[in-house]
Amino acid sequence: MRRLDQLLSSLGYCSRREAVALVKSGRVKQGGTVLTKADQKVDPHTITFDDEPLEAPDGLLAILHKPAGYICTHDTGEGPTIYELLPDQWLRRNPAVTSVGRLDKDTSGLLLVTDIGSLVHRFTSPKADVEKVYVAEVDRDLDPQLVDTFAKGDLMLRGEEKPCLPANLEIMSARTARLTITEGRYHQVRRMFASQGWHVERLHRERFGPYLLGDLAEGEWGMVEAA
Ligand code: URA
Repeated sequence: MRRLDQLLSSLGYCSRREAVALVKSGRVKQGGTVLTKADQKVDPHTITFDDEPLEAPDGLLAILHKPAGYICTHDTGEGPTIYELLPDQWLRRNPAVTSVGRLDKDTSGLLLVTDIGSLVHRFTSPKADVEKVYVAEVDRDLDPQLVDTFAKGDLMLRGEEKPCLPANLEIMSARTARLTITEGRYHQVRRMFASQGWHVERLHRERFGPYLLGDLAEGEWGMVEAA
């Protein structure tokens, strides 16, 4: 059970100050009956707002198809941010919605966004062992030898002390390959190719753990179930 005013503001329907007025507006109901007391305790699953169930009362998890050119921070100094692509209501939620890990500004593809702190930890901890699948376009023809080089588990990136864990490379065409990694080091895919003399010209993530981009259009988001 949650206090109605606190529930509405934590789900981003209003600020804490606005909650009393919002409840008085008649838009909040339980079983079709208008609720008017902002401080009453309610079961979040029984409440409607404008006759719709409350949005993700137990925590929100969504996938976003990030376009290249968007940054994964709240800092607007370097161009558009992924948060501009999400509903304002999600950004007013408390805890706020944040991305699970990051993609580089120039990388497109699947980004998870959530307000469930334990999920962020579960998916980003070094022990998480979550498969991330990328499609990379490179600047010159790929060498089949790269498949072994990336698979061996002894690839060292400049400035790092531990080799990258084995990664699966599938060459799709002369200059396109699909790479599956389980780590999430800084610029990892670009640096793995760079270490062997290839420059990644385009990078796109098509899968993150159990989540697939499917036919979600660039810039669009979709709710998913926590796996
Ligand atoms: N590896 C990269 O180099 N960039 C990303 O955005 C993700 C993985």
